Amino acid sequence: MKQKSKSVLIIGGGGREHALGWKISQSNLVESVYYAPGNAGTVNNVPIQPNDFEKLVAFAKSKNCFTIVGPEAPISLGIVDYFSARNLEIFGPSSRAAKIETSKSFAKDLLQSNGIPTPQFATFTNHQEAVDYVMKQSEALVIKADGIASGKGVIVCNSQEEAINAIEAMMVKRIFGEAGDKIVIEERIRGQEVSLIALSDGSNIKTFPTCRDYKNIADGNAGPNTGGMGSFSPVPYVSQDTQRQILYDIIERTVSVMKSNSVPFAGFLYAGLMIDKKGKASVLEFNARMGDPECQSLMVRMNSDLFEYLAFAEAGKLDELPPLQWKDQTSICVVMAAKGYPARYQKGEIIYGLKNGYMKDTNIFHSGTTRDASGHILTNGGRVLSITSLASNLGEARQRVYEVVNQITWGDNGQYFRRDIGIYLI
Ligand code: GLY
Repeated sequence: MKQKSKSVLIIGGGGREHALGWKISQSNLVESVYYAPGNAGTVNNVPIQPNDFEKLVAFAKSKNCFTIVGPEAPISLGIVDYFSARNLEIFGPSSRAAKIETSKSFAKDLLQSNGIPTPQFATFTNHQEAVDYVMKQSEALVIKADGIASGKGVIVCNSQEEAINAIEAMMVKRIFGEAGDKIVIEERIRGQEVSLIALSDGSNIKTFPTCRDYKNIADGNAGPNTGGMGSFSPVPYVSQDTQRQILYDIIERTVSVMKSNSVPFAGFLYAGLMIDKKGKASVLEFNARMGDPECQSLMVRMNSDLFEYLAFAEAGKLDELPPLQWKDQTSICVVMAAKGYPARYQKGEIIYGLKNGYMKDTNIFHSGTTRDASGHILTNGGRVLSITSLASNLGEARQRVYEVVNQITWGDNGQYFRRDIGIYLI
């Protein structure tokens, strides 16, 4: 960690990046936070796209920035390697370490060969072989594109017919492009999902509290997967015993295996987990970055100085810091999306109610938004806003967040959000 770094560059323009910047700008160690490209909710936006490494490097050099990468695309393309080779401070995993997210089959092989709990699976690059495999299975299945697909590359199937259709969509129709040329077919296990995110410097970790993400577009977890429609933290159904199992058997073991394979993982390690009836956690997926919208719920609960932890992690010195400190309250985030998302949707609609929407302990983090010449805030993406509230319990947090959500509207096509964020069935 170089003490001179007081400017921070956050790469990305989603709710996750807005929430990271909101938290980091509270640090006494930070003078300015820049976003590339940011959105209408962020200030100090720099009009550089996340994959334009040359321009990002030039900007980071000009301001002596410590850089933080939000989305998976630049990580998978090697932005951390590119910055590091130019002696610039950047927090995130190398593209080799990020394979834990960018190749589902790599992650599953790593888990299986190291005895880290994960559902049974098989990997295919041939459509007919995948279909033949499905015909022999009696259990429900999950079909996963091997590569990255904006969080949408997982199809949970209730029948053989659904599984065969999903395989055809990925391998023949190529709805996720080359990400679906290789697929993983996984046994579908039942239980409650939870996300557990840890900060790793390659050897040492600091864990975040449990968080729950709602991936499906519709209430009751119906409809196709999205990038995430809401989240809350902490998650009451994850016992202390289960949290210990996640920490020791999953997170620490994974970081240790990556290190001993000479591919140390430094960055946010995100484990998407399923907890079964006995309280045992299995890994459904890893991501090599912060979750969105998990980040929004986690940032509003964090008491520690996030920038200090990221700077120590980048320097490989996380062991010198105490555990992260958190507010003993519940946070909840409801994503407001453009109607039609995750399929076709309208952009450019004026958003109303943002100013009136502010109330105590509620943050409006922007995702797909932009500003026009007259200063109106317009929709500019599928996920548009992440309304995030903090309260003494989940019930109050739900009430608080939906009061704000219900005041915000836009355009003729209009807004869409799930009404059941914070509700879960055991
Ligand atoms: N919320 C799921 C993700 O960030 O991939």
